[in-house]
Amino acid sequence: MSETAATSSEAAAGCPFHRFLDFDTFAAGTPRAYLDELREGHRILWETDDHATGGHWLLFHQRDIDHVLQSPDLFTNNFGPILDDFPPALLAEQQESLTFMDPPRHRQYRALVDYAFRPAAMRAREPMMRALATDILDAVLPRGECEFVNEVAMQFPMRVIYAVLGVREEDFAYVADLTNTLTLADDPEFAENREAGFIASMKLMEFGAALAADHRVHPRESLTMDALGSEIEGRSLSDVEYGRFFNNLIVGGMETTRNTLAWAMVEFIRNPDQYALLQADAELVVGAVEEVLRFRNPVVYLRRTATRDQELAGQRIAKGDKVVCVLGSPNRDPAFFADPGRFDIRRAVPNTRRNYRTFGAGPHYCLGIQQARSNLTVMIGEMARRIHNPRLLAEPRHARSIFMDGFKELRIAFDAEER
Ligand code: HEM
Repeated sequence: MSETAATSSEAAAGCPFHRFLDFDTFAAGTPRAYLDELREGHRILWETDDHATGGHWLLFHQRDIDHVLQSPDLFTNNFGPILDDFPPALLAEQQESLTFMDPPRHRQYRALVDYAFRPAAMRAREPMMRALATDILDAVLPRGECEFVNEVAMQFPMRVIYAVLGVREEDFAYVADLTNTLTLADDPEFAENREAGFIASMKLMEFGAALAADHRVHPRESLTMDALGSEIEGRSLSDVEYGRFFNNLIVGGMETTRNTLAWAMVEFIRNPDQYALLQADAELVVGAVEEVLRFRNPVVYLRRTATRDQELAGQRIAKGDKVVCVLGSPNRDPAFFADPGRFDIRRAVPNTRRNYRTFGAGPHYCLGIQQARSNLTVMIGEMARRIHNPRLLAEPRHARSIFMDGFKELRIAFDAEER
């Protein structure tokens, strides 16, 4: 431990800095230039916050982020990955869900649904996904304009995950509303307050439990059906346990993909040379997907909580301190990416995948990563084939959030090609 190291409370008192994770700073999405400055100047910083836990440590460097995310014994997930503490009355229930668990329990639960996103399952799912992408674009292309976020970017991952989980069509809108309320609870257009977000999370779990019950009465082919037939600790899942999984899959899969697709459209409009490259060579779609994921990672940060007093990035921190890993920071670190502030779909894919932290790291590493990549590959490929000369009809409107970087409205016009 360095002699000058401060404890978290001293750091909070003496720190000259801040506002990073602040709604105003994030009004136009992740402030990338500011983040570059912070990464260049600091390994770890203390930031006070007045809406969540009082304060937290910020980490910017890949090795420190990996250390935290890969050491669940030192940094627990039991208090969740977002900044806001759950109200005590709801915390115990949340701690029964995958995203709040630590190994070894976490490993057992995760194994129950892991197989559903392996490459063979993804290949089997692809024709269904292409058909959905075609339907969604067919509905908007003849108009020559659309509101891309809600008509395309949200529709696609939502309908894919509904098909995978066996959600009935009459419930589509209800589940989408709850997901928006939960993940965009800081935006008054989606939720009255944070409390409404926590309640939406509980309601999603209840819906998942009801979906399980429905599958028991009306068996049908879906991940839900398979999960109900699997066993953990020698017994099969209850409806309530499945409901928690459902919540994780829906929340994990929808807003993230929708934001990445919307950012893809915005970056292609800002960089028409890159769109031209993609349209000229369909093989570039994989590079395009990885570059959007690197350049515009939708999940801003992951929070963990220190399980003991320890040293982190040369700083003494205390048991119970919140540690926040800023995922977009390594994504634009010049140590890993040449000219990192340039959007370039021809970057080497293996290097991008190895060095970005868009999907996290360690045991909670995105469980749906294959589904995410597959969704983005299918939809960005179809967009490039059928949407020509896309242009903004209005400035995109960002959602008010410091956790999810994305838009709530993106009005575009384009020249369209028939299928
Ligand atoms: C662009 C799309 C996506 C991005 C950027 C993304 C990002 C992430 C990140 C950063 C985590 C780590 C959370 C943590 O460590 O606390 C995560 C976890 C997770 N993701 Fe994704 N995700 C995406 C798509 C998906 C999809 C399509 C699904 C489901 C079909 C999904 C399901 C999950 C689940 C269930 C977890 C929790 C895993 C665990 O706690 O063990 N994600 N995702």
